[in-house]
Amino acid sequence: MTVKEYVQSEKNRLANLIKEKNLSPTLVIIQVNDDPASASYIRGKIKDAAEIGAKTIHDKLPEDISQAELIKIIQKYNDDSSVHGIIVQMPLPKQINEEAVKLAVNPKKDVDGFHPLSTFSPCTPKGIIKYLKAEKIDIQSKNAVIIGRSNIVGKPMAKLLLKENANTTILHSKTKREDMEFYLAHADIVVVAVGKRYFLDHSFKLKEDAVLIDVGINRHDGALCGDIEPDLNVRLQTPVPGGVGLLTRISLMDNLLEATVENEI
Ligand code: GUN
Repeated sequence: MTVKEYVQSEKNRLANLIKEKNLSPTLVIIQVNDDPASASYIRGKIKDAAEIGAKTIHDKLPEDISQAELIKIIQKYNDDSSVHGIIVQMPLPKQINEEAVKLAVNPKKDVDGFHPLSTFSPCTPKGIIKYLKAEKIDIQSKNAVIIGRSNIVGKPMAKLLLKENANTTILHSKTKREDMEFYLAHADIVVVAVGKRYFLDHSFKLKEDAVLIDVGINRHDGALCGDIEPDLNVRLQTPVPGGVGLLTRISLMDNLLEATVENEI
């Protein structure tokens, strides 16, 4: 099943759930940064929500807003019982501390999974695990290698893979090439999130039945490219575009539904 087919089946499942239980999930999207990537992510989220029958409130704020004002607005949505999920699109302008903003969102409405007490898993790692399971890829006792140690992907990915009993290794920018080669040669599942076009390429020896998950989104000559060179000789490799980005977006809807069910019933 391609990622697109899987995501469509998940959308159908969520749409049916909303209809059956007569829910009215409502997601607030707060946008402070006006960069084209953020705008494009937000359009995608609004489209997904519309497709499953969820409501979105897109609150676009001035780029020079102060941190205190932004937090006041977040608190207004925290207190609004008709709002089930709140996301603040990152990155934020320099005058605002991202950590303070993440902590301002009510953990029960934090569908991004950014708050340390959030009831939700961060969307990208959650989407990846669910896709691996849908593809019937064994995780338990397998060698999982994550390249990249960010708070948004690498670290939470490791946590979820450990929960599934994978032998989990995180490699990063200070890992030596020879060690990278050693771990990759033994890896069953590889998640690459480094933000470098074709970082993982044919010069690395991989297992033929390895599963490669490409979290990279790099713009190159007007095209989107992943962190992994396309068409490596493995069992499964997620494409870019049309791969992890879609899994991340569907997880956001999944978390929104969870938040709605928790708070409406
Ligand atoms: N910026 C890049 N990815 C994300 C995401 O998943 N959530 C939010 N809020 N901002 C982002």
